[in-house]
Amino acid sequence: MQEVICAKVDPRLLTKADRLFTGTVEGRVIEILQNARRAGATEVRIANKDGFVTVQDNGSGIEDFQKLLDLGGSGWDEKMETGEDPAGVGLFSLAPREVSIVSGNRKTVIDKDGWTGKPVEVTQNKGTVKGAIVKFRDDKPWDLDLVEKHAVFAGIRVIVDGKLCHSMPFCRGKSAYYENPGCRIEVAKEISNYHREWSTHWYQGRVLVNFHGQVVQLDHWPGKHRQGLTILVDIADQTDIRLMLPARTMLVENAASEKLKEAIELEYYKYFQKQKTHTLYYEEYLRAKQLGIELPEAEPQYKPGLIWGECDEPVEIVMPKDF
Ligand SMILES: Nc1ncnc2c1ncn2[C@@H]1O[C@H](COP(=O)(O)OP(=O)(O)OP(=O)(O)O)[C@@H](O)[C@H]1O
Ligand SMILES: [Mg+2]
Repeated sequence: MQEVICAKVDPRLLTKADRLFTGTVEGRVIEILQNARRAGATEVRIANKDGFVTVQDNGSGIEDFQKLLDLGGSGWDEKMETGEDPAGVGLFSLAPREVSIVSGNRKTVIDKDGWTGKPVEVTQNKGTVKGAIVKFRDDKPWDLDLVEKHAVFAGIRVIVDGKLCHSMPFCRGKSAYYENPGCRIEVAKEISNYHREWSTHWYQGRVLVNFHGQVVQLDHWPGKHRQGLTILVDIADQTDIRLMLPARTMLVENAASEKLKEAIELEYYKYFQKQKTHTLYYEEYLRAKQLGIELPEAEPQYKPGLIWGECDEPVEIVMPKDF
């Protein structure tokens, strides 16, 4: 008889779902803000009181409460499904906490056992809530300092205990739009402190990729030196760029991420094309040319010092051929 095997998810995974996350409060902030944004909210109000955090958004509300506890399942619309490829795990970052959720005229309280499979009752709410309210106890308050970093580039108004989080577009200067992989790219000389918070190297430029408020660093640089630049990538609504699950702190290597690297390289050389002068290497000048970008000749740079080796007389430097 032929043996047949079949992929399935063991319910035991539910008992470990909280471990899909790093367990940091930052991770919870990211997931909850992301849900509000995906629900189409334009405003999120966060209130801290007596150790409890209450997050209220003015989004579309929760249509199907079952989706809240469906590990791997999502209740977002088609556009969100193709554009962001939600994983259906985010809310489990709150497990095993007791969480009360209200939306429309329904409410529920998910307790420790609720997260691992015990049926949870959904009851009628007295009033009607537009959007959703999520309330739970957390180790520390979700104060402005903690939340703002995750709200500043999300494109929604986030108010923490009555104070409005700063908000700005991720790309602020001239940026180029790339339909494939679906993003804007800006090569920036100056970045804000909000951007800098996401860069592991304070002084050195990096590629920073913004996914609707969540910023990740791309470990890739198109040239030889950083040149004091930062490359900002603002991901559009429709893209095949994906974040690695479950932590979503780095990009998945796929065809779209390759396209992104190509686009970054083009923008990098176009940036130097627009400058009056540059100090790129000859090798880079040739690479730009290969990409169809004519660069002006590099500004000569002189560095005083002795030439290593036997020769201590000044030597003549020959210009490379075809330069
Ligand atoms: N603030 C909200 N407003 C409306 N619906 C919500 C809200 N938060 C959660 N939901 C519903 O609960 C479902 C589960 O949310 P969860 O965060 O666990 O997964 P997801 O957002 O679908 O995927 P991801 O793992 O990428 O976060 C959502 O798909 C959505 O249907
Ligand atoms: Mg989510």
